Amino acid sequence: MKKTSSGSGRRRAAAPPRAPSVHRNGSSSNGAAPRGRRHGDAEEKPAPLVLEPPIEVRVARPADVAWIAQIQGLIREAHEAGAIIALRSSDYLAHAIRDRRAVVVVRHGTLVGFATAHPWESERYVSHSAMVVSPELRGRGLARRMKSALVELSRKRWPNAAILSLTLSPQVEQMNKSFGFEPVPYCDLTKDPEFWKGCEGCIHFAHLKRNQQQDCHCWAGLLMPVGQPREKIVPRDAHGHPSASSSH
Ligand SMILES: CC(C)(COP(=O)(O)OP(=O)(O)OC[C@H]1O[C@@H](n2cnc3c(N)ncnc32)[C@H](O)[C@@H]1OP(=O)(O)O)[C@@H](O)C(=O)NCCC(=O)NCCS
Repeated sequence: MKKTSSGSGRRRAAAPPRAPSVHRNGSSSNGAAPRGRRHGDAEEKPAPLVLEPPIEVRVARPADVAWIAQIQGLIREAHEAGAIIALRSSDYLAHAIRDRRAVVVVRHGTLVGFATAHPWESERYVSHSAMVVSPELRGRGLARRMKSALVELSRKRWPNAAILSLTLSPQVEQMNKSFGFEPVPYCDLTKDPEFWKGCEGCIHFAHLKRNQQQDCHCWAGLLMPVGQPREKIVPRDAHGHPSASSSH
């Protein structure tokens, strides 16, 4: 789970420029809109219209287990490129897909994006993790569409759960905030040891362990169930960290 490592704690890595001319639903005309004929330009033919294949974002079906190698390839590629994203076993992915708590992005018969939801502590929490988009399709709103599908799925299936996200990616942090996630200290997250095992492959795992899972480099956020505001037991600063005074 989590974000591009800058190797220096919470410092943000510079994001690459976004593709400027592509519609967020992926239905771009690739900037090749047909041109009108100009006076005295009889020879000019309209430029061919290049249509992108449609991009489908949907809840995974059991048959999507066929994509497991592709999903692992995307995650491994992102991991090797420096993203803080945990490598996942085929069993973990197969279980999420068969249990219909994953979201896939399919373009032209190829899987190009993936993310999953996982309930913890008798469905008190649901985590969203393993979010990845194929590098050539980033910056077109696919992660946002997956997040929207995951939030909808989580709300329907676990209406009383707080949705949890741990991420080191500034894009994912911003996106989560726009969905209503609020920053929280680690003590507000699930205590389930199985959840924290997901961090074992992270380069910051030793740091997390040293802090007894009470702090690490990832941004932690919760999206509370509808109508159930978070109880703020400890006064917190603007970043959600416990503070001596609640007046900050
Ligand atoms: C993180 C990742 C999933 C984002 O996927 P994406 O499809 O490119 O993201 P989107 O285009 O949906 O953008 C989502 C938000 O991120 C931000 N964003 C995306 N790309 C950005 C960029 N290059 N520069 C700045 N902000 C960017 C925007 O805030 C956007 O929200 P908006 O709708 O308000 O503009 C993708 O970069 C990825 O697969 N990274 C490697 C794996 C990883 O780090 N996963 C995260 C694990 S927590």
